[in-house]
Amino acid sequence: MAEHQTFEHDVIVIGAGGAGLRAAIEASAAGVSVGLICKSLLGKAHTVMAEGGMAAAIANVDERDNWKVHFSDTMRGGQYVNNWRMAELHAKEAPDRVRELEAWGAVFDRTKDGKILQRNFGGHKYPRLAHVGDRTGLEMIRTLQDHGIHQGIDVHMEVTVIALLKDGDRVSGALAYERERGRFKVFKAKAVVLATGGIGRAFKISSNSWEYTGDGHSLAYHAGAELQDMEFVQFHPTGMVYPPSVRGILVTEGVRGEGGILKNNQGKRFMFDDIPELYKDQTADNPEEGWKYTQGDKASRRPPELLTRDHVARCIVREIREGRGSPNGGVFLDIAWIKEKRGDAETHIKKKLPSMYHQFKELADIDITKEPMEVGPTTHYVMGGIRVDAESQMSTVAGLFAAGECAVGLHGANRLGGNSLSDLLVFGKRAGEHAATFAKKHGEVTVDEGQIASCTRAALLPFESGRTENPYEIQADLQEMMQDKVGIVRTEDEMLEAISGVAELRARAEKAGAPGNIEYNPGWHTALDLDNLLTVSEAIARSAVERKESRGAQFREDYPDKDPEMSKFNIVTRKLEDGSMEVVRRDIPEITPELSEIIKEMG
Ligand code: FUM
Repeated sequence: MAEHQTFEHDVIVIGAGGAGLRAAIEASAAGVSVGLICKSLLGKAHTVMAEGGMAAAIANVDERDNWKVHFSDTMRGGQYVNNWRMAELHAKEAPDRVRELEAWGAVFDRTKDGKILQRNFGGHKYPRLAHVGDRTGLEMIRTLQDHGIHQGIDVHMEVTVIALLKDGDRVSGALAYERERGRFKVFKAKAVVLATGGIGRAFKISSNSWEYTGDGHSLAYHAGAELQDMEFVQFHPTGMVYPPSVRGILVTEGVRGEGGILKNNQGKRFMFDDIPELYKDQTADNPEEGWKYTQGDKASRRPPELLTRDHVARCIVREIREGRGSPNGGVFLDIAWIKEKRGDAETHIKKKLPSMYHQFKELADIDITKEPMEVGPTTHYVMGGIRVDAESQMSTVAGLFAAGECAVGLHGANRLGGNSLSDLLVFGKRAGEHAATFAKKHGEVTVDEGQIASCTRAALLPFESGRTENPYEIQADLQEMMQDKVGIVRTEDEMLEAISGVAELRARAEKAGAPGNIEYNPGWHTALDLDNLLTVSEAIARSAVERKESRGAQFREDYPDKDPEMSKFNIVTRKLEDGSMEVVRRDIPEITPELSEIIKEMG
């Protein structure tokens, strides 16, 4: 058996983005020992890509805002397949979590009278996103990190978890390897929180960096937990399209929140062409008047660029497909036009969107204060994930918790921008608190040496001779296939091809080899990531086939309408008999009369 070091904590948290850090802080504050495991360096997390702000109904800019409006916006955006209890908890608790972050030292832009400033974002009825320029996620990570390290959390950096360990039905820790030296590490723990983020690297064009290979989803699935609604993958409408080396990098929705408009190659604001029924009551309907709703005033009607992401992304794809795109395969996003309305456009843009200004200047030689950007959709987020209890965030496996992007429920079929950062805070805190309580209540665990031996053996297989497949090529082929066949516009035939394609790629992955040895070996790391990528890709494709309708982020050309019969959850499980994947539909628990009344009241 390969050697391993053993670490013991009451609670381990896997993933150190916003949810992981917030969970670790809470568990540690409850007096248990906490180990925080990061795949890369502490502070490098996809959380920083939520640039435009965190959504919370603190009503600093529009006093009509409150938790009920936020709740109903979230349900509407998610097309009513949300876990309504999570949407309620989120809307009620987000304001306190934001204020707490402020008390821990987070810097925010301010209103004239010194309150936290809030900006408009897609699908939010009122200006609701607390922000600092376009670096809100970064500020959140900085604050949580600072707070966390002063609390005595043990941080294990550049460590990748490859299996969850079980003691009977209960989780008992994790097996991991150290990326630098390749050494195996066993983390024994009474409770485990998964906060590993998303699956963006299953697609070719993505705002996600290399870490986001669906690890938490796949670890939980293999440990017997249920996944849910994996078909709902969010394609953020605006990523960079040029130059090719930066394709997919996020262009924050904050650009549109500050007044940015989308145009095709005929100079037309095409977003006025198709306003969904659900949003007719909120959207400006006169192109000539559209601009005035972008100023964050008290008007309820907003520009169509601030419709939900699923819809905006589809409109952009339509323009490109029908030949009205920009030269490099996108459309134009123009913020420079606001100079027509305010003399200080350049100062304003540089102040509110400093990262975007530098990103375009340095990477594309575009001055966004003077010329439009070229943008197109990029895989940004997965709404689907590990099924958890709304109150505690515990999955269907005892002692295994999940929070943030790898958990499912809050966002339904489509996440509203800015709801991710508040999700991480609200449910990260809950997961940490309940994991600590679980660890205190339940006795010691044992780790199964047999399981450790078989997992380490399997992890070392890429070093065996005769393994001729290149893991990078398999990953690239998978990304290409998922982008083409399970992307923004889907059909049954293409998705069935993708399911067969995953099986073929899995057969190739079983022959993937890595020259060299366990030290400093990214080829080996890529080979080990493949199983996670293939597992989540299969779950996405199978769930998307099963959902025979268009709803939120899932758009099917062969079923273009929403079907009330499909207003259900898609549950993904691993069959014990043969390890195959199964997707079944499950009814959504009935919403309480009070919440139902709120949704009706809000129209
Ligand atoms: O566009 C953005 O700033 C992203 C925000 C989010 O995903 O919540």
